[in-house]
Amino acid sequence: MKVLIVGSGGREHAIAWKVAQSPKVDKIYCAPGNAGIEEYAECVPIGAMEFDRLVAFAKENAIDLTVIGMDDPLVGGVVDAFEEAGLRVFGPRKNAAILEGSKAFSKDLMKKYNIPTAAYENFDDADAALAYLETAKFPIVLKADGLALGKGVLICNTLEEAKEGVQSIMLDKQFGTAGNRMVIEEFMTGREVSVLSFVDGNTIKTMTSAQDHKRAKDGDQGLNTGGMGTFSPSPFYTEEVDEFCKKYIYQPTVDAMKAEGREFKGIIFFGLMLTADGPRVLEYNARFGDPETQVVLPRMKSDVVEVFEACIDGTLDQVDLEFEDNAAVCVVLASDGYPLKYDKGFPIQGLEEFDKHEGYYCFHAGTKFADGKIVTNGGRVLGVTAKGKDLKEARANAYAATEWVSFENKYKRNDIGKAIDEV
Ligand code: AMP
Ligand code: GLY
Repeated sequence: MKVLIVGSGGREHAIAWKVAQSPKVDKIYCAPGNAGIEEYAECVPIGAMEFDRLVAFAKENAIDLTVIGMDDPLVGGVVDAFEEAGLRVFGPRKNAAILEGSKAFSKDLMKKYNIPTAAYENFDDADAALAYLETAKFPIVLKADGLALGKGVLICNTLEEAKEGVQSIMLDKQFGTAGNRMVIEEFMTGREVSVLSFVDGNTIKTMTSAQDHKRAKDGDQGLNTGGMGTFSPSPFYTEEVDEFCKKYIYQPTVDAMKAEGREFKGIIFFGLMLTADGPRVLEYNARFGDPETQVVLPRMKSDVVEVFEACIDGTLDQVDLEFEDNAAVCVVLASDGYPLKYDKGFPIQGLEEFDKHEGYYCFHAGTKFADGKIVTNGGRVLGVTAKGKDLKEARANAYAATEWVSFENKYKRNDIGKAIDEV
């Protein structure tokens, strides 16, 4: 089989690595890819939003399966474009990717189908939002409706802050058209867990749990980022929590989408908060998480290409989805200054070390080739993943492996997975 992967981050590197394990696969392409993905795939310079060029490439090269990694093309309808051209593609259609593409849609869906989530109101107009805030309880959470690179959520402690938030989202359009609508919701407290799942329209099979660290600095300080590290499984995601989520969240979400005429095929990523009153949905994503994928896929035993195909064919009920009984930790190596200003273009040393050690992976997020050398090319540069028999061992292994690699402005958090010490 020939497989095309669309995307260019650490998530797509992990997907490419996993797809390359499949005995069914002869050749992998990635559009546009990065310097690390090049090890498994031929990278082609087509952007993820260039649907016509992607479709033409898939046709010309007789691609058997295309896997979409990123949210923007999914929400924009890339799957519909492939299907209209008669091509096989893994991911939700536009009318289902709205689960991630509109927070107002997903909140209304949860309300209509009694799926537990924070209480909320949707607003199309800033004056109504400002009036609502006058009588609200604080802290309160403001969310731009559309995609905003994971940055469209503001937690406001005071009325003043919240008013400024409405101004910047709805009037100054800090997140562009994503802020044409807004959700204002109740602030919840608890542990956060990410659960990714495969869905074939009817059947849902969840992967092992993970936890992300979104803030830039140790102790969950600093600005929100795309994710500074992850661990899997989450020790807080107990059997009891899983039972609850299966019954009240996972299957009900798939059934709700079907009932709405928006059959979902692909990945549903459940961002959950384990509150004192039970698990609640924080958000849905319609794709693999980044950097959750970098700890989940290395622990997956099953052939991911078989699972992708079963989702497309509606035969997921016949698949055994299995994970190793161990743990993994991913520490992101970033460019100092990320997520604000940072320099790039620095040569990276030590990458060859990963070929010598089983159970260690270096997934590239922002790298490229320059004069035959691999150099830094983004805020998040590498995701260093290591496995271990348990979380403590995996964490020690991952942090040891971060020392193998060097580049000029290397920055990392030092407390990825620290929460596991509290278990
Ligand atoms: P989201 O993009 O919806 O996952 O939001 C990003 C982050 O904001 C989450 O990972 C949480 O840390 C936080 N967050 C979102 N919604 C809430 C909420 N209702 N209460 C507390 N924190 C929230
Ligand atoms: N790690 C969070 C996300 O992929 O949205």
